[in-house]
Amino acid sequence: MSNRLVCLCNLVDENEILSLLKKGANSTSDIQQITRAGTSCGKCLPVIDDLVREFQDKRPKVQQKKLDFGS
Ligand code: FES
Repeated sequence: MSNRLVCLCNLVDENEILSLLKKGANSTSDIQQITRAGTSCGKCLPVIDDLVREFQDKRPKVQQKKLDFGS
């Protein structure tokens, strides 16, 4: 898998963002706070949004539990 530079202003690459998502980062805002990616010119924000969305779409969904009203 290639490792492309996502944020040119702050030198943040795709592998760094994916690694943070795997460790629990949950949003573009989280990525911005941790790496500063997207906090300068902002041109990379759509790419970061896409990476976050793609990662969340691939993540296994937690199955909803049946409600127990204790009747
Ligand atoms: S390219 Fe990411 S803030 Fe400019």
